[in-house]
Amino acid sequence: MTRDHKSVSLGSGILGLKYLLTRDRVRPGAQVTNMNKLHKVEQLVRELYESKDLARDSWADALYAMHVPIVAEYGKQFAERFDGNRDRVVAACFLHDIADSKVSRGDKRHEEMSAEIARFILEEAGYSEQDIQIIIDDALRFHSCRGEERPLTLDGKIMATADAVTHLETDFYLVAENAFREERGDSVFMPWIKEKLDRDYYNKIFFDEVRAEVKERYEFLKHHFAVDYFAVD
Ligand SMILES: [Fe+2]
Ligand SMILES: [Fe+2]
Repeated sequence: MTRDHKSVSLGSGILGLKYLLTRDRVRPGAQVTNMNKLHKVEQLVRELYESKDLARDSWADALYAMHVPIVAEYGKQFAERFDGNRDRVVAACFLHDIADSKVSRGDKRHEEMSAEIARFILEEAGYSEQDIQIIIDDALRFHSCRGEERPLTLDGKIMATADAVTHLETDFYLVAENAFREERGDSVFMPWIKEKLDRDYYNKIFFDEVRAEVKERYEFLKHHFAVDYFAVD
């Protein structure tokens, strides 16, 4: 195994990430060599979350299970529908906010770590430098669509759309409510959730026809939180 030498120099890697991932290259039965690059990304991401780093947020496991593979599935569908590059879009979906597997969202290294981990995984999976730049420097970097920031590439726009649709169409907001509302209190939780809902619906969905498809669900969630909020106020 020529890759084995990589695991030697990994003490200074991203919190042991490189050791963790390269260690699995030599595990008997890990048939990674026959996998296509998208499957490699999926496997490495899963291994990273399953390593259950102690510094991760308490809800990172649930977020991974209920969110990441669904974003990837929407990403695949939208890449086909809107002529994006499937391998780039789906990889970006799997890798967005990948540092959730290692540290909390509030950690100031989160964004930088996400980019660093994503680059390592994409290189391991055999993505070209051009693909890696589109995924990291555009799709991952701008997927939150805060303020005036927006992805510029079609693949980045598709990934942001897939992320927003997943938030709206799954129980994401209701799970977030269970996890954080009591702990943070309504004065913190409600403005956060309302800003996020509107950002998903207005900023992150780049295709009007998709926005029309999730309109009913968006309105249900707006109503749910508005009613709840005013009921307790
Ligand atoms: Fe994000
Ligand atoms: Fe997401």
